[in-house]
Amino acid sequence: MSGQANRLMDLSEWENRWQEGRTGFHRSDVHNLLKDNVDKLICGRKDVRLFFPLCGKAVDMKWLADMGHTVVGVEISEKGIKEFFQEQNLAYNEEAVADIPGAKLFKSTDGKISIYQCDLYKFSSAVAGHFGGIWDRGALVAINPRDRQKYASLLVSLMSSDCRYLLDTLEYNPELYEGPPFFVSEVDIKTVFGGSCNIDLLQSVGGLEEKHRSWGLDSLTEKLYLLTTKTQ
Ligand SMILES: C[S@@+](CC[C@H](N)C(=O)[O-])C[C@H]1O[C@@H](n2cnc3c(N)ncnc32)[C@H](O)[C@@H]1O
Repeated sequence: MSGQANRLMDLSEWENRWQEGRTGFHRSDVHNLLKDNVDKLICGRKDVRLFFPLCGKAVDMKWLADMGHTVVGVEISEKGIKEFFQEQNLAYNEEAVADIPGAKLFKSTDGKISIYQCDLYKFSSAVAGHFGGIWDRGALVAINPRDRQKYASLLVSLMSSDCRYLLDTLEYNPELYEGPPFFVSEVDIKTVFGGSCNIDLLQSVGGLEEKHRSWGLDSLTEKLYLLTTKTQ
């Protein structure tokens, strides 16, 4: 993991990014790897409860809710959450969360999309139950590398026994860029999830864009994995 291992981003740095509009991670279109693999996530089921860790204002939430599924996200930035509901033209309510001091729940009035504004590590199945699917894009790759085992243990604790977890990662030369997003290899995934989950590589695509070149990268591969619980 090279110098990235000790890189730390605290929550205020993320909030600053939102305040300053430095949200280059946001995509205005539904993610291509989600579109290509949505059948692997949903697997023919109806009204699946889907979890979006570190959701930002991902349009993917609305796309899946419009298919009849229920979406729960966690995001620290209130600005990002409000932008999501405004940009998607969704009316919402705001309430306190009894189980998490200081947290707020933003919920669309149709009840299909709920976003908890809190530190992910304060979230648990005691707050919102278990999930039948997870879309992890810009989440494992965004957390501090030293927190990966803690993150994986939390995500596994949120999986129902039939959960299908799509995990999107990036591979590039970590000597050239400090992150985030951080380089996450298949070995890294096996290290933190391998004890609890089956891990299948679904797709691997070249993803080098101009912004990555400006970070100093000369190649970048985006990989999509399917994680399922070993009890399945
Ligand atoms: C790289 S962005 C990805 C957002 C979204 N998944 C997407 O694909 O557009 C990571 C997001 O996680 C949020 N974040 C970072 N650390 C967090 C934490 N510990 N708890 C909750 N949100 C966090 C940041 O504010 C940011 O919006």
